[in-house]
Amino acid sequence: MSLPTFPSSSASATPIPRVFKPRRMGPGDVVRPTRAEISLANLRHNLQKLRRRSSAPVWCVLKADGYGHGAKACARTLERAGAAGICVALLEEGIELREAGVTLPILVMGGYYGNAYGELLDNELTPVIYDAGQLEQLASEVNYRGLPPANVHLKLDTGMGRLGATPAELQSLVDVLRLRPELKLQGLMTHFACADTSLESIAEQLRLFDELTTKLRAQGCVADLRHAANTAALLNAPDSHLDLVRPGVGIFGVEPNVGSAPELRPVMRVVSTVIAVRELSAGQSVGYGATWTAQRPSRIATIPMGYADGLARSNSNRGHVLVRGKRVPIAGTVSMDLTTIDVTEIPDVRVGDEVTVLGSQSGPLGQDTITAREVAEIEGTIPWEVLTDVSRRVPRFYREA
Ligand SMILES: Cc1ncc(COP(=O)(O)O)c(C=O)c1O
Repeated sequence: MSLPTFPSSSASATPIPRVFKPRRMGPGDVVRPTRAEISLANLRHNLQKLRRRSSAPVWCVLKADGYGHGAKACARTLERAGAAGICVALLEEGIELREAGVTLPILVMGGYYGNAYGELLDNELTPVIYDAGQLEQLASEVNYRGLPPANVHLKLDTGMGRLGATPAELQSLVDVLRLRPELKLQGLMTHFACADTSLESIAEQLRLFDELTTKLRAQGCVADLRHAANTAALLNAPDSHLDLVRPGVGIFGVEPNVGSAPELRPVMRVVSTVIAVRELSAGQSVGYGATWTAQRPSRIATIPMGYADGLARSNSNRGHVLVRGKRVPIAGTVSMDLTTIDVTEIPDVRVGDEVTVLGSQSGPLGQDTITAREVAEIEGTIPWEVLTDVSRRVPRFYREA
């Protein structure tokens, strides 16, 4: 078997694609009844609600496969529903959306392009750049291809301390922009470090962003699109909306601060089914490490979902799921592919019963919801990670409702 080679972008016209993407399971690939249901209606609903809260157009952040929801289907839906643009982290993510037929502007925010500026231009993706060397590389590729000036957005570090030109580095970017007619400065962006916790820190970062913008303008570098706001800033700080907003998690129905946008609706439900039921006597234990022992005669059901699917091991003996509309505890250690739940309180539970791991369920015993925030608290993380953790083995089923 010969391995694919990775030619440089300006090398001979080779048909070998350079960007390879791992494929996620599709509904037709799987036998196992574990799945994620994505409500496109709720996705559209959230976009409309966020558009109403924003004074600027909404560019939806669909990095990490649309926060685990499937970027292609989400992008197509949001494009039709009135999104003004899409933001992704990786070049590969942008290419995937172009191949899916998305025609909206796509901003690649991750700032890493290797030597793939050719692919960036071929796919009409707009790069976020923070370094003079990257600007030079992009300009050379535009020149080599004889293309019209390429749009770029500069990222300015106003306090995140992660990516972005620092005030001291700004002049080197200005020097390249002024010398290279192949580049058009379309945007200036920054990112907030504490948008969900501190209005003061938003104000301070905005102040510095304004200051840097003024300095750039004085040197002839004027951008039409200035942007900074993620979901929390969109909801908490109207001053931060500028020329466009970049919500991610809010599009998927998660409030960054509880109560800040109760009108948003969760987009993902994760469900499985009971595949085995057993009766245990008091004293019998369950699972790896025998961490759960029946205190009374108990009924244990097994679901075909484990930590390799995104149900983190930290849920062992702590998390809950819903069966027949009622909350039941996870009993024992979550395994890689299987999880055991204590269904002693569910009288006639059977193989085939639906089990909701994330989202709402109604049934004969009631109605309840497991939120991404609740799971995040158990796992010691944030709702963003709960959503992106739902793994490639779990097929996404898209529902219009
Ligand atoms: C640069 C940038 N903008 C916007 C977002 C969207 O953030 P959120 O999901 O909190 O709305 C992110 C996500 O981390 C980001 O990295």
